[in-house]
Amino acid sequence: MVAGLFVVFEGPDGSGKGTVIAAVEKAIRDWNKHQNITLTREPTHKSKELAKMLKSESDPMASARKMTQLFVEDRKQHYHEEIKPDLVKKRVVLCDRYSISTLVYQSVQGLPINELVAAHVDANIGAPDIIFYLALEPEEALRRIAKRGQQIEKFEQPEFIKKVVQQHELVYAQALEEGSPISKLLGRVVKINANLSPDEVAKAILDVLEPIYRQRAENRV
Ligand code: TYD
Repeated sequence: MVAGLFVVFEGPDGSGKGTVIAAVEKAIRDWNKHQNITLTREPTHKSKELAKMLKSESDPMASARKMTQLFVEDRKQHYHEEIKPDLVKKRVVLCDRYSISTLVYQSVQGLPINELVAAHVDANIGAPDIIFYLALEPEEALRRIAKRGQQIEKFEQPEFIKKVVQQHELVYAQALEEGSPISKLLGRVVKINANLSPDEVAKAILDVLEPIYRQRAENRV
């Protein structure tokens, strides 16, 4: 089935996913002004319980199992009820966070990665066409969060952030191992240096995405 294009953006808090997604949306509209695009994110707006836990809990290590269950359930609904139908309609879906976020954050919370992968397989969660992993140095992640000056959320405490940055690297390395359960779950993951300026980060992504988009659009007609 030739359908839409499912693109995911992952990375630690402060990696600039929001800015990059806006630039990618604009570029796709320049490539084809008729292209329908869905902008979406996880956790979705449906998961009020997760939003509350992220805002109100102060211990980043608390509630690992409960959160895993909620994140995977949210993703299952999101994929089957929104993303997949949009792809069938040939839309481009740009999603801020997806499976890598659970593999990273909930394993830093203490759960084994293979258990987290299995939860996704059981929920029959579909792989994106491509995942852009926005990689940051730990010092840069901390600097950007401090600069925002907002209240520090559950997962934004310095020690936890450092582990999140390291764990992204570990999950990425496993995603590159052909045939591994993680690589089967995630599909193609491209690492982008997010320490650079927003324009440079967007350019690095668009250089990879444009040929994929054009080929998909050609095969569709
Ligand atoms: P939020 O403030 O909604 O978004 P963001 O930081 O992406 O702008 O916070 C989402 C937080 O939830 C973020 O710290 C990552 C975390 N998270 C998980 O722990 N597991 C998951 O599966 C997802 C999707 C997010």
